[in-house]
Amino acid sequence: AFSSGVKTVTVTGGAGQISYSLLLRIASGAFLGPDQRIRLKILDLPFMQDSLKGVQMELHDCAFETLDEVIVTDDLTTAFKDTDYCFLVGSKPRGPGMERGDLLKDNGKIFVGVGQAINDNASRDCKTIVVGNPANTNCLICAHYAKDIAKKNFTAMTRLDHNRAAAQLALKANTNVSNVKKVAVWGNHSPTMFPDIKNTTINGKAARSVVDTKWETEHFIPVVQQRGAAIIKARK
Ligand SMILES: NC(=O)c1ccc[n+]([C@@H]2O[C@H](COP(=O)([O-])OP(=O)(O)OC[C@H]3O[C@@H](n4cnc5c(N)ncnc54)[C@H](O)[C@@H]3O)[C@@H](O)[C@H]2O)c1
Repeated sequence: AFSSGVKTVTVTGGAGQISYSLLLRIASGAFLGPDQRIRLKILDLPFMQDSLKGVQMELHDCAFETLDEVIVTDDLTTAFKDTDYCFLVGSKPRGPGMERGDLLKDNGKIFVGVGQAINDNASRDCKTIVVGNPANTNCLICAHYAKDIAKKNFTAMTRLDHNRAAAQLALKANTNVSNVKKVAVWGNHSPTMFPDIKNTTINGKAARSVVDTKWETEHFIPVVQQRGAAIIKARK
């Protein structure tokens, strides 16, 4: 039986690569469970509306019982009106030769407008996750402009950096990753990101008593920072 009430979920950048995998999971119930009906609102730029209609057609064709309605739009107010959950994926990807700073100049502006639209339209306890990079800085901008919504309702998806750090520690200690706890990452998803093991434990012991400083500074930190580039190079 479905729980009463429909939850509204907004996804920005809905015509892009990441959203293509994400939308299906939200619509199928993998996000809010099989008993929760969902109204999905998908935003992208005006010139992406044809592509977005294709995504809408595919979602209709899935015939998910969890999916009450699919609204596609290029209008911020329509996208965020009464929304309960926001996935902010829409942003400009980094082009050849672009630095993080250039990316931030373009993408920062997007998150000013989106933050204001959330503030003006969304449910007062709306939860937001920022995916578009640099995710944590964009999240800070968004939360700042959504000034009437509690800051604790905003988070940035930096899980990949966290997971990379936890996995390297597990490999080094020859243990399962579930035994690695309290890994922190600081900074943007970029080569300056800093994996922090100050409070980390491995099998209940302080990580720094399990791994030595030389390995931490000369291997662990650069490997985690440069992992994305290393994978692209290896898979070419
Ligand atoms: N945080 C993470 O772990 C993580 C993981 C993967 C990707 N990303 C980031 O997610 C973002 C999207 O990646 P992608 O591969 O889907 O890129 P993409 O280029 O395929 O898709 C981005 C979409 O956003 C749209 N868009 C751009 N500006 C917009 C705006 N102002 N409003 C609404 N939509 C807008 C584009 O038209 C495009 O359809 C990138 O910034 C990427 O770096 C983050």
